[in-house]
Amino acid sequence: MPLKQLVYASRPFGYDDLALRGILAMARRNNERDGITGALVCREDLYLQLLEGRQDRVEAALKRIAADDRHTELKVLISDDVTERLFPGWAMRHDPARSWMWSPAAIAAGALDRCSRADVLDVFHRIAAEPAEPGSAAADPKGMAGCPHPD
Ligand SMILES: Cc1cc2nc3c(=O)[nH]c(=O)nc-3n(C[C@H](O)[C@H](O)[C@H](O)COP(=O)(O)O)c2cc1C
Repeated sequence: MPLKQLVYASRPFGYDDLALRGILAMARRNNERDGITGALVCREDLYLQLLEGRQDRVEAALKRIAADDRHTELKVLISDDVTERLFPGWAMRHDPARSWMWSPAAIAAGALDRCSRADVLDVFHRIAAEPAEPGSAAADPKGMAGCPHPD
């Protein structure tokens, strides 16, 4: 079964800390079960998520995620067969959007409609190369953010 790497962007609906915690807890529980790893970049105006794992499991997760009313306007930006995981240790890493990513104004102006695949992948390669932010949920691998996946 090939390894699938998928990235989508969407617009949060009803975004707050509690909603985000609920999403992450659910994502990590399911992803650990399904052998899915990845990262979720969050900001009030943006979810940008990379999912990687067995093709059938990633596709099933995407179907569930697309039906979730906690976000809208989901758009798949990348769907590739890959040979390696970018976030092998994370059932779902969580990262706040960073200053070097697209600004809210750029997102509102449709930057994600015009960006290249390389631009999108670059965001996740940069994240993967950085330690999780101190104090963020992702910096606490044994806590809520944890669930490193064994493979
Ligand atoms: C932004 C966002 C990201 C999500 N990420 C995942 C994920 O990585 N894996 C997952 O199983 N569910 C994820 N979910 C939750 C799914 O939409 C869905 O609620 C969940 O998979 C249903 O799980 P259940 O069938 O066990 O109730 C996410 C939801 C949102 C809004």
